[in-house]
Amino acid sequence: MYSLLLPLYLLGGALAARPFLNEPDTGFDAYFADLPAGELPPLDKIVGLPDFDAAARRHLPVMNYTYYRNGAGGEWSYRNNLEVYNRYSLRPRTMVDITNIESTLQTTILGHNVSAPFFISPCARGEYGNADKEKGLVEGAAAGNILYMPALFASMTIEEIATLKTDDQVTFQQVYLDSNDTATQQIFDRAEKSGAKAVVFTVDSAADGNRHRAARYGVGSADSSYTLITWDLYDHLTTMTDLPIVLKGIQTVEDAQKAVEHGVPAIYLSNHGGRQIDSARSPLEVALEIHRQAPEVFSQLEVYADGGVRYGADVVKLLALGVHAVGVGRPFMYANVYGTAGVEHAIDILKHEIAIDAANAGVGDLKKIDPSIVDWTPNWESA
Ligand SMILES: Cc1cc2nc3c(=O)[nH]c(=O)nc-3n(C[C@H](O)[C@H](O)[C@H](O)COP(=O)(O)O)c2cc1C
Ligand SMILES: *[C@@H]1O[C@H](CO)[C@@H](O)[C@H](O)[C@H]1NC(C)=O
Ligand SMILES: *[C@@H]1O[C@H](CO)[C@@H](O)[C@H](O)[C@H]1NC(C)=O
Ligand SMILES: *[C@@H]1O[C@H](CO)[C@@H](O)[C@H](O)[C@H]1NC(C)=O
Repeated sequence: MYSLLLPLYLLGGALAARPFLNEPDTGFDAYFADLPAGELPPLDKIVGLPDFDAAARRHLPVMNYTYYRNGAGGEWSYRNNLEVYNRYSLRPRTMVDITNIESTLQTTILGHNVSAPFFISPCARGEYGNADKEKGLVEGAAAGNILYMPALFASMTIEEIATLKTDDQVTFQQVYLDSNDTATQQIFDRAEKSGAKAVVFTVDSAADGNRHRAARYGVGSADSSYTLITWDLYDHLTTMTDLPIVLKGIQTVEDAQKAVEHGVPAIYLSNHGGRQIDSARSPLEVALEIHRQAPEVFSQLEVYADGGVRYGADVVKLLALGVHAVGVGRPFMYANVYGTAGVEHAIDILKHEIAIDAANAGVGDLKKIDPSIVDWTPNWESA
């Protein structure tokens, strides 16, 4: 009996999904075992973006941390966002001159110069992580010369954030909009006056997000009404502002093609960090769908993507499919617990990791990266 069951048991183990790890063990707990409860590890000992999550989880009140950490439903999309990059392995090429890789990090986003192909995703409620609210995010982005997208529901107003910007700092203003043109025009006017270079219209939240973890602490979504969001509304909105309107939360090749038809300047693939509807795919899977069914989209408009990006190699995989720039949400909110210096440190870490991971994959120029650098056959399936 036992001898019969054992091989079956082993087989089952081999086929089962790998256990999910919010914080893969790279020695953080062992290294900081003696750190008093709640104390923040010294910033110079933070070696990667996941460390900021670990540090914030130990430091912040559970309600604050929960608002940042939560995902929708059973958080399958949240977990998949983190795991999906590992399902597609790299195919590193050798004998390639990669010595100038760092100089290829800089790029343009809708024509604006930035030092790296990643940006700070719009996340509400900076004050949950830092009493200085969004200050660290604005200043950190300026110091690192990357794009910051302030959220409409930031803890600071559009105007307060504008006063913290350097003269030439590029920001895109995230907005939630409905059919109330008076309210919309006010938001557009405020965004223009603040010097924002584009509006990022979030279209993945037509209804409230189903957030169990957050509901326990009363820290659910900031945008909870049923909202009429249609292509007609988008067409109408383009008549109300001179700013380009980026659509955030595109999740299918069909909608990407619709965006091309409607002359949208840029789309932003996102499942809202797995916070809106559980079981929504990761942006990497959506980018792969576009790559397979309508690859021309990547050159017809700019495609951005975010969700679960924690390592340089994650960014490399998205860029390989034709994604133009990559967003990072939670890690920057956790880094902001340390303020401006934390955000700067997070930017430096990710820039360095993108450069060394691309180089080790045999990419000499990020502008010439192509899909062949990744094996697009998934190497394991989730449960
Ligand atoms: C705390 C928090 C607040 C967020 N608030 C907004 C928001 O107000 N508007 C929006 O479009 N997206 C919002 N998002 C989604 C982010 O813009 C982004 O899509 C997501 O965080 C990316 O996943 P990541 O956190 O794994 O990087 C929020 C995400 C988090 C974690
Ligand atoms: C952007 O960068 C390019 C090339 O590095 C440079 O020629 C151009 O002047 C820059 N534009 C601005 C507005 O700084
Ligand atoms: C937690 O969030 C509350 C409510 O926004 C805020 O007042 C407080 O400062 C936050 N705590 C920390 C340690 O950031
Ligand atoms: C539309 O927005 C304006 C400005 O915020 C507000 O005063 C008005 O009550 C809103 N109208 C409706 C029907 O909600």
